[in-house]
Amino acid sequence: MTRIDPLWRSVAVAVALATLGACAPGDQQGAPSQVASDSTPEVDIIVVGAGLAGLSAAIDAARAGARVAVVDMNSVFGGHGIQSGGVAFVDSAMQREMGYRDTPDQAYRDWMEWAVDGDADWTRFYAENSREMLYDWLTGLGVTFDRIRPSHGNSLPRFHMTHRRGLNLTRPIFLEALRYSNIEFHWNRVAEQLLKDGERVVGVEGRDYRAGNRFELRARSVILATGGFQSNIQMVKDNWRADLPAPGPVYSMSGHNSRGLGHRMAEQAGAALANLDRQYNGYAIVPDMLGLDEARGYYGGNARSIWVNKDGVRFVTELGIDRYVFDKVMQQQPEGHWSIYDADDKDGFRLNGPYFVSEDAVDVDKIQRLAVENPAITQKADTLAELAELIGVPASALEATVASYNALVENGESTDVDGLPPEDTPPVFTIDEPPYYATKLYPMANKSAGGVSIDIGTRALDSSGNPVAGLYAAGELTGSAGMNGLNGLDGMFTGPSILTGRVAGRTAAAELADFPDWQSVEFTRRDGDWADAAISNATFAPTLGPDDVRAVLAQTRDGYWHFERVHNLVLERGYDCSQCHSQNAAPFYAAASRSDRAVQTQLCNVCHLAPAGTLPGADAQRAPVQQRD
Ligand SMILES: Cc1cc2nc3c(=O)[nH]c(=O)nc-3n(C[C@H](O)[C@H](O)[C@H](O)COP(=O)(O)OP(=O)(O)OC[C@H]3O[C@@H](n4cnc5c(N)ncnc54)[C@H](O)[C@@H]3O)c2cc1C
Ligand code: HEC
Ligand code: HEC
Repeated sequence: MTRIDPLWRSVAVAVALATLGACAPGDQQGAPSQVASDSTPEVDIIVVGAGLAGLSAAIDAARAGARVAVVDMNSVFGGHGIQSGGVAFVDSAMQREMGYRDTPDQAYRDWMEWAVDGDADWTRFYAENSREMLYDWLTGLGVTFDRIRPSHGNSLPRFHMTHRRGLNLTRPIFLEALRYSNIEFHWNRVAEQLLKDGERVVGVEGRDYRAGNRFELRARSVILATGGFQSNIQMVKDNWRADLPAPGPVYSMSGHNSRGLGHRMAEQAGAALANLDRQYNGYAIVPDMLGLDEARGYYGGNARSIWVNKDGVRFVTELGIDRYVFDKVMQQQPEGHWSIYDADDKDGFRLNGPYFVSEDAVDVDKIQRLAVENPAITQKADTLAELAELIGVPASALEATVASYNALVENGESTDVDGLPPEDTPPVFTIDEPPYYATKLYPMANKSAGGVSIDIGTRALDSSGNPVAGLYAAGELTGSAGMNGLNGLDGMFTGPSILTGRVAGRTAAAELADFPDWQSVEFTRRDGDWADAAISNATFAPTLGPDDVRAVLAQTRDGYWHFERVHNLVLERGYDCSQCHSQNAAPFYAAASRSDRAVQTQLCNVCHLAPAGTLPGADAQRAPVQQRD
């Protein structure tokens, strides 16, 4: 049997698609369509989004006997949980082993204080249930954590770092979802509109990217788990905090599909959106220098640099606490600030973010070439006066700033600008070795802390606080239930996304009992090591090579964005096809069956895990800290 057909078929589909004319996702949106009440639903519950929230929702709904369909516009699972780092838990077994005595009360107090206006009910629920519903559940699925990091807003360490990053958090959840016979997946399908029967939400309508046609799917209820809106820069700016000046350029380092599509669908179906100005954004990002997407940026910077504003003076402690630094950066007018360093310290420059996964994150030469020795991103000059001229700040001010900073370092004095305690002890460096460098840094849109209003059962609420029948919302779409409030907390997006997902699955399934004709289905749950079991069934087709991929990559197609990112990297890095596609991994075709999908998860490692040894492992765990009363 030959396996190459689908690739060529996909070329044919692409040609067909091109003739259909492009339309951006969401273009077709309007008020929800009404459907005839007598049509029979194909499934009980539709979950839109296969990220942490959607996958968790699907599992709990399936366990309750519901027939579940998961719809995602990506070809791959995981959403941006793939890129995440860790999860906050309270009183986990790991904390206990390390000697931390944590309690839900203490976590609740810490988080409410830091978040300022976080959602009290959900914060309480999370503090009380994160051990059983998250830590125990996840470790039971095979998730492992390397260490627990102390982080701001927590009086003791709670931020559990996933072993080699978020792929290892999302993959076990996905593999679990694949085990249930009553969960089906619809990949590359973008939901654009909810369907209603009277007042009740009963399905979704949208576009199938790969087939090129529109689709409609009916159910008894819908769980939206479409993520945040931080890749929709207009929406980010429209909902900017009113107490800060309006921003200039903002670049996104958020999920690829975090475009606010779910927010719009929910709103059009009658749900209220709340606290959209609560956003956990950052301030040190450099614009895309790869030519992939001009709206995106990469978290970047040099920990061995000082920051100056348009007047050439320091205005904030560079390694200070997030929430203070963010406000100070945003108050600079015009915004954007410069990171200043010298030849000695230029290797300290790092890039991080969606593209700089795996080996790129530690490829210092590549980062130097792309960001430091790239005049579109960084200016360079032999004297500080010339550098000042290039970046348009007063030369005398920049010289004086650097001289006084160097003097502080040489005298062993504190370099804090604003008297705030820095999060880490800044490394001691001086700026006196030409050439001098200036990299301009911008604000970044990252995580949504507001979104669709929900109750403690994840029912979507209208502006009067009444549930919209048949509609549930989970994950970052809800601002992860508003637990972060004004100030974000580490690990309080991943964990709350999983928790709200699980609650949504349970609530939606329990409420199916309201339908007199509803009956739970008989389902099977596959045991054993799923991914390994499937490997031996795969067949290798050595007939495809780089030229075939080059031909397919010659045009960009909706539904193929991830395939394109992957295989552009494959060509750039000169990987052999057999590194990922072989008898011991997945074959050359769009993974269709559950076994294919399970096997395919093994390919993700190459790019989405931090290279071994680059993250401190279990041996780097800190000694238990002094507890606060
Ligand atoms: C680089 C990075 C690092 C992070 N690190 C951390 C961390 O260490 N700790 C932490 O707590 N949080 C972290 N976060 C945030 C956290 O990862 C997310 O908040 C969380 O994963 C959101 O999960 P979700 O399931 O709600 O949404 P998402 O992961 O955004 O998933 C939504 C899914 O829905 C799909 N979708 C969207 N719209 C549609 C549509 N209309 N039709 C069909 N499908 C659709 C998308 O393709 C996607 O698969 C990080 C985020 C980023 C970007
Ligand atoms: C050859 C490298 C490579 C491999 C292999 C790979 N990816 Fe990716 N992936 C990328 C890159 C690069 C991006 C970021 C694209 C961007 O944002 O520009 C990405 C992004 C993603 C995203 C979007 C994340 C977000 O925040 O929206 C998901 C989800 C994802 N990958 C899942 C997977 C899964 C699941 C697998 C395995 C089946 C996989 N990837 C295999 C390179 C790879
Ligand atoms: C680093 C890992 C990696 C390497 C190397 C690699 N691939 Fe892939 N390939 C993937 C992943 C991951 C997917 C699934 C991507 C997706 O759906 O987004 C995939 C999917 C495919 C598909 C299915 C496309 C579809 O329609 O869904 C084809 C065909 C393919 N690869 C061909 C090749 C060829 C030819 C080579 C060698 C030039 C190659 N790949 C090298 C990781 C890799």
